[in-house]
Amino acid sequence: MKRIPGSRCAVAITLLLTMAGESAAADPARGRDIAERWCSACHVVAPGQLRGSDTVPTFAQIGKSDKFDEAGLSVFLAAPHHSRMPNLSLTRSEIADLVAYIRATKP
Ligand code: HEC
Repeated sequence: MKRIPGSRCAVAITLLLTMAGESAAADPARGRDIAERWCSACHVVAPGQLRGSDTVPTFAQIGKSDKFDEAGLSVFLAAPHHSRMPNLSLTRSEIADLVAYIRATKP
């Protein structure tokens, strides 16, 4: 077996990480997609949505509320302990997109 020279391997890994880092920039449009897919069964995630559970806050309410700043929202979404909210095992970039989307509703 031939060994891959360590330095070339490190370059490849660095490149991959850089690319992943770029695509991880928060994108509210992607956040809305994720919200419609994963959150809309319970939350009203967008103004046009007709149905959600009436016992959970809408994304507009969450966005406007002072309960969570961006960091607080990210922490909550990473691990919603002690809450009726399920843990959806979101990735960090999904969380960043969702937070960007939710916060975009804040005036
Ligand atoms: C199975 C239903 C369900 C799904 C799916 C769901 N949630 Fe929730 N969520 C809840 C409930 C219920 C609460 C209220 C929790 C409580 O009061 O303890 C909540 C609360 C929250 C809160 C905190 C609001 C506050 O003011 O305390 C945030 C933020 C939130 N959800 C975001 C999301 C996001 C983002 C998604 C999609 C990735 C999502 N939720 C998917 C049921 C759900």
